[in-house]
Parts: sequence; structure tokens; C-alpha cells
Amino acid sequence: MAKRNQNIAKLQSGYLFPEIARRKREFMQRNPSAKLISLGIGDTTEPLTPAIVRGLSGEVSGLASTKGYTGYGEEQGMPELRRAIAQKLYGGIVPEDEVFVSDGAKPDTGRLQILFGPGRKIAVQDPSYPVYVDSSVMMGNTGAFDAGSGQFHGMQYLRCVPENDFFPNLGKAGSPDIIFFCSPNNPTGAAATKEQLRQLVDFARRKKSIIIFDAAYSQFIRDSKLPKSIFEIDGAKEVAIEVNSFSKPIGFTGVRLGWTIVPEKLKFDDGTSVRKDWNRIMTTVFNGASNVAQHGALAALSDKGLAEMENMVSYYMENAAIIKKALSGLGYETYGGDNAPYIWVKFNSGSWEAFESILEKAHIVTTPGVGFGPSGEGFVRFSAFGHRENIIEAVERLKKHLQENSKK
Ligand code: MLT
Repeated sequence: MAKRNQNIAKLQSGYLFPEIARRKREFMQRNPSAKLISLGIGDTTEPLTPAIVRGLSGEVSGLASTKGYTGYGEEQGMPELRRAIAQKLYGGIVPEDEVFVSDGAKPDTGRLQILFGPGRKIAVQDPSYPVYVDSSVMMGNTGAFDAGSGQFHGMQYLRCVPENDFFPNLGKAGSPDIIFFCSPNNPTGAAATKEQLRQLVDFARRKKSIIIFDAAYSQFIRDSKLPKSIFEIDGAKEVAIEVNSFSKPIGFTGVRLGWTIVPEKLKFDDGTSVRKDWNRIMTTVFNGASNVAQHGALAALSDKGLAEMENMVSYYMENAAIIKKALSGLGYETYGGDNAPYIWVKFNSGSWEAFESILEKAHIVTTPGVGFGPSGEGFVRFSAFGHRENIIEAVERLKKHLQENSKK
């Protein structure tokens, strides 16, 4: 038999969300009549909006006719969609030929590992979206601090906690090849300021690192002073790639569509073009995003579609405000929820313990903070994706459970 990929053997446990789903199933077997509410995985719940449905169904109808039928499309995505992304979502600060449309930010993050290959020094925010660490391990980008040289080899966790405003101390960050940075952040909900991103870009320029900037939640930014893209920062195009997604702002978690921006100015140390290699990978292992999904996204970027997107995002952000207010009202330290659909809450117990107690007593699924990295221990993440009536009920249950808990 073929040998197992030893990098996969290094992964310590299953992926976080299937593990939570497993615990949820076990709970349901023990409590079959429980009415569980999920504030766990950040999965959208509200139906697609009319403009998007028109875009999707128009394309489906077209495909049903000989005249309208199309097969493979352009690997980088439909030119009109790439143009709309560049103009409507980036105000023209990135040119359309740097936009690569794909099936989502998560698969692109995985494919970016192919771009850089094994043996790279990786830095991640701690806590962070587990895909950065897990895909790095799969590629063989693991390592440790070498006390002899004082250098980090492999993965480095950049502590992001309330005490440092969830922004890492870059002075301790060594010289990573690749830095994964997510803002607004999943899971903490912290959105980096322009000044913080400027520090990050300056650091990457000094250390010759490449930032993989995950902006999947950028549409949830409510404070107009906060940057929505790393490319709002001078000099970022020489050091950053941005991944982004239609999943959360327009409810495409199941439809699937995202994009990655790889600037022309970004070069490897030998002067070759990163964009060219990305194109080579995408044209080899990816056949272009679904034509139906792309027409849906194009409709989402029309004036009507953008207005509907804004309503959808506002709905989820109102949910976030309801959850945050309730938990803060109970005396919990809460973070995020203002410019991101996640509320990060400090508990006086371990994360899994708090997760289990909320599941058992309040019948609510959350996400244990430690699942996102060691600095997440003691925190629980609450997702704001849900129907309003479920959010209101969840908050009532949480109030009851947490008040009772605090009396013990
Ligand atoms: C999350 O809950 O962190 C996200 O939904 C996961 C994802 O977007 O893949």
C-alpha cells in the first residue's frame, strides 16, 4: 500500500467544526426532544435576496437553451464579475486582472499552500481560523523555536488577546515567510485599524514576508474609519495577497464563491511573479468557479444587489448587538460584535467546559475559543448568524443559565 502522508498524521485532532457537530449529535441522541439553537459555526441562515435569485435563475434558464448554454468559463472568473469586484468592492484600488474568482476563501487558503510549498516559516494570529494552521501542517509547514539560533522554524503563534487589543507584538514575531492575518477577525471579532495594518505591512516589508490577508468579513465593518482591505495601506501590494468571500455577506456558504487578489507587484525573492504562479496553479487544479454562482454574485454587485447585501449584513449585525448586550449585561467581558458577526466572550472556566455547560443547560451550540488556538482558552465564540427569533430565544436561555450558574 501507499504510505500515509505523515504531515496529515501530525494533525492533533479532527477539524474543529466536525468535532463540534459530533458533540452536538451525541447531545441530540441523549436529548432527542431538545430544541437546539446554533450560535456555533458561522453559517448564514437568511434566504437569498431577490436580485441575487434573479441573477442565479437567469443563468440557470440560459443554460437550459442551446443558445445560452456555456461549459467551462475563464479560469480566473467572468471578466465582468472581476471588474465589478474591483470597482464596487475595492473602489478601483485593485485592477480587475489581479482578481481571481474562485469557489471560496477557504479552498483558496488551502491552494495557497501549494503556492508556497513546504518548509516555510508560518506565523498566525493566535487565536485564528483553524484552516491556516491545519493546511500549513498538511503542507509540512510545522516547526518550532530553535533556542540555538533564536529563530522560529515553522509555525509561530502571534498572541492576540484583550491586553494587546488583539494585535500581535510584532517585535517578537521573528522573520516569518508567510503571515496569516484575518481582519475583521474570526474568531475574536477584532477589526484592525489603519495604523495597525500599517505596522503589519511595514513589518512584512522589513522582514520580506508575505501577508495572506483574510478579509472574508470585511462587509461587516460598520465603522467607516476601519480599513476593509489590506490594499488600503500604502506599500501592501508588494507584500500581500487578499482572500475574500461572498459566503457571509450574501449567504453563499452553500452556493460557494470567493476571490483572491494577487497583485502584479508581488514578487518572490528571485524576482518572479507570484501572480503568474498563482495563475499556473489555478489553471491546473481549478477549472473556474460555477457559472451560475458567478451570475448570482454579479447581480449582488448591482445597485439593487448591494442594497440588499447591506440589509442582510445589518440584520446579522443587529443579532450581534443583541447577543453582545445580553452577555455584557450579565457582567461578562465581551469583545467583537461591532464590526464582525462574532462575539468573543471570556468565561471563568476552560473553553470546552463552558461550551459543554451551555450546550447541556441552555441547549445552545457555541464554539470553544481554545479550538482556535491556545490564546483562545477561557473564551467562547458566539456567532451572530441566525433567525432573529432564535437569537432572542437563545439570549433568554443564556440569561437564565448563566445567572443560575453564577449563583453556584
Ligand atoms: C466559522 O464558523 O469559523 C466559519 O463559518 C467557518 C468557515 O467560514 O469556514
